[in-house]
Amino acid sequence: MPSVEDVLKTAQTHIQNDLIQVLQTFKLPDSLQRAVHHSVMLGGKRIRPALCYAVAQMTTPNLAWAAVRRAAVAVELIHCYSLVHDDLPCMDNDALRRGQPTCHVAFGEDTALLAGDILQSIAYEVLTSQMFDESFDHSSSAMIALKQVRILAQASSAMVAGQVLDLQSEGMPIDKQMLETIHKNKTGALIQAAIEMSAVTQFEQSSQEMLSLIRFAQAIGLAFQVQDDILDVTAETAVLGKTAGKDLKVEKSTYPALMGIDQAKDYAYQLHEQALGALESLGDRTQELRAITQFLLQRQS
Ligand code: IPE
Ligand code: IPE
Ligand code: MG
Ligand code: MG
Ligand code: MG
Repeated sequence: MPSVEDVLKTAQTHIQNDLIQVLQTFKLPDSLQRAVHHSVMLGGKRIRPALCYAVAQMTTPNLAWAAVRRAAVAVELIHCYSLVHDDLPCMDNDALRRGQPTCHVAFGEDTALLAGDILQSIAYEVLTSQMFDESFDHSSSAMIALKQVRILAQASSAMVAGQVLDLQSEGMPIDKQMLETIHKNKTGALIQAAIEMSAVTQFEQSSQEMLSLIRFAQAIGLAFQVQDDILDVTAETAVLGKTAGKDLKVEKSTYPALMGIDQAKDYAYQLHEQALGALESLGDRTQELRAITQFLLQRQS
């Protein structure tokens, strides 16, 4: 199996380069430009882009690499927007993100709100702008771009719906089914989108590969937020890069709160096993995906 350090480091280098290049092409007012740079370029594990690339790596040579790179950029931009808005005082009211002051602390609430807004527009611009290049091959690539736009738009809407339910559930007793719905929407959907937006560049909708990857994505997407809940309890602020212990303080509905920390850890483990199980029929091609899955279970931030 490739070392997960190498997989993630390569992914981080790719996405960092592509993001900087994309952001350079947008001429924004100075304060907005700085807020966007702050929210996108400073840190982050870049798990969603890494998942895009790992799916793409299943087919070699990959003829749709450009479409995969655009997907990785777009999904990371939507993720960064979701973090900027998630941290706002009217949402989770957090002051620390990726080891830095949150966007609204650094630039003010108005600019943070607008930085989140523009990140969404840039994401869709990235997915579609190449269609207007003269060299663009319309026969197949336009349909791929449209599919990617649709997957991302649907996941982004699900994320917003999940965020609404998350906020409404603060301080409320909710059952496991409801908590699962919240987590699948607010976090799982975008992780699934990262995988699907890459998968549609290579695999047909009803192919064995696509069905297995969707099952993988659903398990890993839910597991990601279960782990995030666990880390809020077990990790240190300095390592986490965001304020630890915050969920308990505001009585968020989380897995550790619902079932206790040990059972939450068991559940995270089971979901990671489920994710690995979904990849079994796909054989050796999924080595990078498996490496990322193992990293996610063990991550400390
Ligand atoms: C944090 O996501 C927010 C959730 C959806 C749980 P990440 O843990 O991927 O955050 P970064 O991008 O690495 O900062
Ligand atoms: C994140 O959930 C969901 C998003 C859509 C950003 P959290 O509110 O738990 O994420 P963190 O812990 O602030 O990163
Ligand atoms: Mg939140
Ligand atoms: Mg939050
Ligand atoms: Mg959290």
